[in-house]
Amino acid sequence: MAESKSKVLIIGGTGDIGKYLVRASIKLGHPTFILVRSPTPSDPAKAHLIKSFQDSGVTVLKGDVDDHESLVAALRQVDVVISSVNGGAVPSQVKILEAAKETGTIKRFIPSEFGNEVDRLEIDLKILEAVFQTKRNVRREIEKSEIPYTFVISGGFAGWYVSNLANDNVSAPPRDKVTIWGDGTAKAILNTEEDIATYTIKSVDDPRAANKFLHIRPKENFLSQGEAVALWEKKIGHTLEKTVVSKEELKKIIEETPFPANIFLAIKYSIFVKGDQTSFQLGDKDVEATELYPDVQYTTTSTYLDQFV
Ligand SMILES: NC(=O)c1ccc[n+]([C@@H]2O[C@H](COP(=O)([O-])OP(=O)(O)OC[C@H]3O[C@@H](n4cnc5c(N)ncnc54)[C@H](OP(=O)(O)O)[C@@H]3O)[C@@H](O)[C@H]2O)c1
Repeated sequence: MAESKSKVLIIGGTGDIGKYLVRASIKLGHPTFILVRSPTPSDPAKAHLIKSFQDSGVTVLKGDVDDHESLVAALRQVDVVISSVNGGAVPSQVKILEAAKETGTIKRFIPSEFGNEVDRLEIDLKILEAVFQTKRNVRREIEKSEIPYTFVISGGFAGWYVSNLANDNVSAPPRDKVTIWGDGTAKAILNTEEDIATYTIKSVDDPRAANKFLHIRPKENFLSQGEAVALWEKKIGHTLEKTVVSKEELKKIIEETPFPANIFLAIKYSIFVKGDQTSFQLGDKDVEATELYPDVQYTTTSTYLDQFV
C-alpha cells in the first residue's frame, strides 16, 4: 500500500521562499494548507498568488503567528508545519511551537531558517549577532520540545545573490561594472528557490531528516563571488570592470548604514567575505540534501546564469 503523504501547513506561504514551498508541496503530492493574515489582501499580486494556490487545491486558512487560537485551529488540520516568516517575525515562531505542543499531533516543525548555519560561525559584527541570535533562540526552544524538527540550512537564494552577482540595486547580472566584496575568493553556496523548496518538502516525511540540520550543498554551487563573476564573463564574452570593496571598508559601510539596510549588507559580508556558509564540516547532527535525494535534478549556478545571457 502506498504511504500517504503528510498534510503540510506553510506559514508565510505568500513570501519570497514561502511561495516556492507551497508550489513544491503541491507538486510532491502533499495536501497543502497555508495560513495567511488576509485571504483577500489589497495587494493585487498577493491576491493573485493566493487565488492561484486555491486553484491548485491549497486550503487557505486565516490566522496569524501572534494569534494562538488561529494557530491551534490550523495545526489541528495538518501533520507538518513549515514556517517561512520574515526575519521580523522569527521570534514569534515560539508561538507556533506552543500551538504544536497543545495539539500534540505535529510530526515535524520546520522553522524559518533558509539561510546560514548560525550556530557554527564566528561573528564580528553586532548587527549580525543580533539577527542570528533570534534564529538560535528559536532553535533552542524547538530542541527542548518534544516536537520533531528539521533546520534547513539552504545557502543563499539564487534570486538574491546570483541574479545580480551579489551587487546592489540591479535585477540582472551586470554587463559592464561589478562590485567585488572583499577579495572575492570566499566560497558561498547559492541555490535556486525552487531547489531549496523541493529539498525542504522532500524532508518532511523522511525520518533521516528528523531532528537534524538539512544542509543543501550541491558541489557545483560552492562558488566564490569572483568565480561567479568569471563564469558570467565567459558566458557574455567579455570582462567586467571591477570595483573592490575591502573587508574593512565593507565593515565600515555596514556600521554606518542604518537599520534594516545594514542587515542585508552584513549577510553579504558573512557569505561573500567571511565565507561562513562553507567554513565548517558537517557532523553527526547534519544531513545533506543532494546525498539524501540524488533523484532531484538541481540547478547549478552556471545553468541559472544562462537565463540572463
Ligand atoms: N538564504 C537567503 O538568501 C535568504 C534570502 C531572503 C530570506 N531568507 C530567509 O528566508 C526566510 C523567509 O524570508 P522571506 O524573505 O521569504 O520573507 P518574506 O518574503 O518577507 O515573507 C514573509 C512571509 O511571512 C508572512 N508573515 C509575516 N508575519 C506573519 C505573521 N505574524 N503571521 C503570519 N504570517 C506572517 C508574510 O505574510 P503577509 O503576506 O501577510 O505579509 C509572508 O508570507 C527568513 O528566515 C529569511 O531569513 C534567506
